[in-house]
Amino acid sequence: MKKKILVMDGDGVGPEVNRQAFKVLRAVADVAGITLEVDEALVGGAAFDATGKFLPEESLEKARDVDAILFGAVGGPKWDTPETRGGAEKALLTMRKELDLFANLRPAKVFDELIEASTLKRRVVQGTDMMVIRELAGGIYFGEPRGIFEENGEKVGRNTLVYSERECERIIRVGFEMARKRRNKLTSVDKANVLEATQLWRATAERLSAEYPDVQLNHLYVDAAAMELIRAPAQLDTIVTTNMFGDILSDEASMLTGSIGMLPSASLGPKVALYEPIHGSAPDIAGQDKANPLASILSAGMMFRYTFDMPEMDDLIQKAVGEAIKEHRTGDIFVEGTKQVGCEEMGELVMKQLHQLKPIAAASPA
Ligand code: IPM
Ligand code: MG
Repeated sequence: MKKKILVMDGDGVGPEVNRQAFKVLRAVADVAGITLEVDEALVGGAAFDATGKFLPEESLEKARDVDAILFGAVGGPKWDTPETRGGAEKALLTMRKELDLFANLRPAKVFDELIEASTLKRRVVQGTDMMVIRELAGGIYFGEPRGIFEENGEKVGRNTLVYSERECERIIRVGFEMARKRRNKLTSVDKANVLEATQLWRATAERLSAEYPDVQLNHLYVDAAAMELIRAPAQLDTIVTTNMFGDILSDEASMLTGSIGMLPSASLGPKVALYEPIHGSAPDIAGQDKANPLASILSAGMMFRYTFDMPEMDDLIQKAVGEAIKEHRTGDIFVEGTKQVGCEEMGELVMKQLHQLKPIAAASPA
């Protein structure tokens, strides 16, 4: 099997975490019998410095033509000037829209080894393993009209929440299918007591539910969902929600695990998928070999599951990560009694674990 991959490092810690993830990606692809055809493209501040654009056309064209993108992170204080502010975010939003990356999967799983890093009590977070599915190509992030307008002698800021039935259906289906592969529980999050767009969302979920009798569907208003997430997170399994609610709830869910540096994500579209750590560019530690590469490495794992359809390789990578953090930690997840390591060494430790887990050792001598 041959797959086309585009590496987009971006800014801050993007390049260094991506380097470790790519190492893992290549080694595991080798074992899996996948030939990778790899290209690189500029994005974010790095692209702006080189070309004057945060998302050069050439990068977008390359992105359209691959199976999967290994994405680092974008943005930083250097590009936070009045002329450039928001440019890096816009690049990401344009990619989501243009590639129609409508299904954003953000797993939030508590690694037993890291349970003490959570701000919540052990008994609350233990067993937490949920998948937040966020609609990513529509909703209030993209609705028209939008802008700051002059109306009746004053400024008015306006954004629009729009969801068509088709848009609701395709993302909620991803939710049902995902729930089927997990614990058969789907929680749809909306604000149907106030917002009509999400009344349609809820009605669509209800209608589709007839096609998935094996999946138990429940609805939560977003405010109640925010509460449930910290009250009893382990009870939640698969969550499906709109773009903005998903933005907020996925950050909340990530903090349950205590380690944002560990959380990967996948953004799936009809053709291309983008894999990125959910942490940002962390400019304060960039280039110092301090970043935690595990979220990126786990994102590469998700690539095996969702683009290559090889969940067993994702399992393998997760297992290697779980082993690697038993004794060694990057600064963000460091606790007494473990040994602190840098980004590169953490990547090497995962590689070592992979080699020890049989299949890799057999097929990948170097
Ligand atoms: C995310 C980020 C982005 C979003 C920003 C950087 C535009 O918060 O991926 O969750 O709001 O979607
Ligand atoms: Mg966010």
